[in-house]
Amino acid sequence: MPAVNIKPGIYWIGVNDRTTDLFEGLWPITSEGVSYNAYVIDDEKKVLVDAAKDIKSDALLDQIAEVFDPALLDYIVVNHMEPDHTGVLRTLRRIAPNVTFLCTSRAVKMLESYYQLTDNVRAVEDGESLDLGTHQLQFFVAPMVHWPETMVTYETTQKVLFSCDAFGGYGALQGAIFDDQCTALDFYEKEALRYYANIVALFPKPVLKAIEKLSDIPIDVVAPSHGLLWRKNPGRIIELYQKWATYALAGPEPGVTLLYGTMYGNTEKMVDAVASGVARAGMPLNIFDVRHINVSYILPSVYTRSGVLIGAPTYEGELFPLMAHVLDMLNRKRIQNRKLAYFGSFGWSGGARREITQWAEKLKWELVEAWEYPGGSTYQDLLKGEELGYNFARSL
Ligand code: FEO
Repeated sequence: MPAVNIKPGIYWIGVNDRTTDLFEGLWPITSEGVSYNAYVIDDEKKVLVDAAKDIKSDALLDQIAEVFDPALLDYIVVNHMEPDHTGVLRTLRRIAPNVTFLCTSRAVKMLESYYQLTDNVRAVEDGESLDLGTHQLQFFVAPMVHWPETMVTYETTQKVLFSCDAFGGYGALQGAIFDDQCTALDFYEKEALRYYANIVALFPKPVLKAIEKLSDIPIDVVAPSHGLLWRKNPGRIIELYQKWATYALAGPEPGVTLLYGTMYGNTEKMVDAVASGVARAGMPLNIFDVRHINVSYILPSVYTRSGVLIGAPTYEGELFPLMAHVLDMLNRKRIQNRKLAYFGSFGWSGGARREITQWAEKLKWELVEAWEYPGGSTYQDLLKGEELGYNFARSL
């Protein structure tokens, strides 16, 4: 996509990535893609704000060259060191050998350890301003949104907030870069939640602290480093992030995520019975087959809903391994204080229920019911499963 003038002298020069299958090597983006939004300011001093992953070096250089020769760069603002934004930096230094990198003090060591960049690296202070001619930048540290060295950069004359990971989301840009041009806002908001739940959710307090810190700043455009830019309603994405961060502290909304795995269909048969009980109680329900659905897509539901139903068989005396993988990721993301009920089939001895009890303790989840049964299910078993679903949903 060509460079886009977003305000006088300020340009989006980002790139789409539809090549990477797993963001961070973990999270599927094969069908959604992702954008690495970067920006240039064309003034007496020429500035690049954030960059891109190394595989996009040529594309990013071409994008910058649409506005000015990259060799003319005076400053590169490094809001965040994760390589999806910094992989191009060594190439940029070769092209613009005198360019100065601006970053937080914590990022200085990381520039050296990742890229051996030590010359012309300048740490900025929280709140420090930098005049560029007619534009002015102001830097605000925002630790843990998403790494400890992270900051955001505000252009004071045009009121543009370059927020990097904060307020970002998956999803390559589809022609439109602004919220007011976009006819697929639902897609980007859904992908912003998935990005939040996958990438940022471990740090709710820092997210809220950063939002509080920026609350007195007038913002015309929220310009994150992934996904849409928000200029019609810049408050929208900030409010969404605030709501999602608050879930971790004040609790999520009532609703059920039903996670299941099955070997020969016996547990799956019970899934439908349990689900009908949840439906009878009128509770929102999302169902995920953990054999086929990556945990990336499961996290947003568990993150936003108060109840988790798990249906999974015993496998070699323990919980079905693919379910254990999902629970491990939920534990790593510290998704705590949920209600849980379990059901699952076994062949010759149980074991999954014992492991579920251990997971509930680890996750600090309240285990309301855990039911394992041999082999297939009778009609009476299915009625019991329907009742389990109903009672669990009613308890939320
Ligand atoms: Fe977009 Fe934390 O990197």
